[in-house]
Amino acid sequence: MMISRRSLLKSASAAAGLASFPAGVTWAAPPRPRFDLSAGFVEQELKAGSPKVRCWGFNGSVPGPVLRYRKGEQVRILVSNGLSVDTAVHWHGLRVPNAMDGVPMVTQDPIKPGGQMLYEYPLRDSGTFWYHPHQSSFEQVPRGLYGAYIVEESKPIEVDRDLVWVLSDIKLGADGQQVEDYGRILDLANEGRIGNQVLINGTAAGAAQTLNVRRGERIRLRLINAASARIFRLTLAGHAMSAIAFDGQAVQPHAVKQVNLGPGMRIDLVIDCLQAGGAVYSMTDVGHRGAGEIARLVYDGSKSLRDQPMAAPIRLAPNKIAEPDLKRAQDHYIVFQGGMRGAPVIGTVDGQPTKTHEMMEKHGLAWTMNYTAQHEHALMHEPLFYFKQGQHITLHMINETDFWHPMHLHGHFFRVVAVNGQPTRFQEWRDTVLMGPRESVDIAFVADNPGEWMFHCHVLDHAAGGMMGTIAVE
Ligand code: C2O
Ligand code: CU
Repeated sequence: MMISRRSLLKSASAAAGLASFPAGVTWAAPPRPRFDLSAGFVEQELKAGSPKVRCWGFNGSVPGPVLRYRKGEQVRILVSNGLSVDTAVHWHGLRVPNAMDGVPMVTQDPIKPGGQMLYEYPLRDSGTFWYHPHQSSFEQVPRGLYGAYIVEESKPIEVDRDLVWVLSDIKLGADGQQVEDYGRILDLANEGRIGNQVLINGTAAGAAQTLNVRRGERIRLRLINAASARIFRLTLAGHAMSAIAFDGQAVQPHAVKQVNLGPGMRIDLVIDCLQAGGAVYSMTDVGHRGAGEIARLVYDGSKSLRDQPMAAPIRLAPNKIAEPDLKRAQDHYIVFQGGMRGAPVIGTVDGQPTKTHEMMEKHGLAWTMNYTAQHEHALMHEPLFYFKQGQHITLHMINETDFWHPMHLHGHFFRVVAVNGQPTRFQEWRDTVLMGPRESVDIAFVADNPGEWMFHCHVLDHAAGGMMGTIAVE
């Protein structure tokens, strides 16, 4: 009965398919030629001169190629699986038709080793996104399968340079190779599996990671947290950082002293480099698992580009997202429980009430959402919520755990309305929101993209440990 419920949903969304694309969007550009993206084994030098590390990557590198398109384009990406296990690719943050969302057992069958799948969809939103497998993500992502996905605005803001930093980390053993301890219950039930070497665009972070700048230069820096569990908390000496987008969506430009980026999250910054030639400034990760200095801005001695910040405005044109009306929104609640330090809870696993320690010992699960712990892509579960297409929703998320959880919803953007009952300053759009220990976060959105969509923690070990579910929009 549950299975048929799901296949019903599946066929409904398949029928809606590509044809259901939103009214009011016109596709300016002709379809791009097909791009081929292939997952496979990679050996990569993380530091100049150090031995190569065995990874998995896209098109022979970690991260994979930066995909760069323009808003309104029709994209065709052929994914080939050169691994020895099943995979699939999810386009994190892109509002694609459900069948293109890349979630094995929910929106598609996994791509078998040697197999291929063509993903085809229009780009509704400009912004900073990324791609990664949604199959055993707790293993496939930290092994190196991730990449940046940039969709340019029709009219981008003026900057001197537009840079992308894919932040992640890797766990290396004494032999210099990845420690293959993915999915340990100890990590699942705690902060997640955190690496011991931070990477920026696939190379070791630290003092050697230099960005050469010129006085007067304006940089747009797009940061993507592709780590499976590490929360980055970044400061930059000697410079004001202006946030202009969260998760790809425009936000009222404002100064940020510290960038807090949970796994899956992105931020677009504008940085005006106004220091003197020859000067050096550090970017530092100050989180409790902080890596210290991760990169340096190094001013070259050449003539300055300008002596004041560039005059051009930095406000991005917003994408079109249906505005949730809080007055007529339906309220829904979701309680998060579990984890190592949490009070013992009882959750439902495969229909059976189960205590935390049994959950961990017998099922390898550690977390519940509304008292249920789900195995990755288990076919037997009902969605957490059924929404009618076009319905306005306020989702009250209540974190009863002692851990941080970057909660990610597929297929939609939501406004972050309130934290602990207090309205947020920017009411920002996001697809992933970092929920603090014992905190409550209210989000609001219009459920306007039909299909069954993942809603999960982006600490990939937490997701594997039960913090994952779906919502159905029909
Ligand atoms: Cu970045 Cu459900 O994924
Ligand atoms: Cu989590």
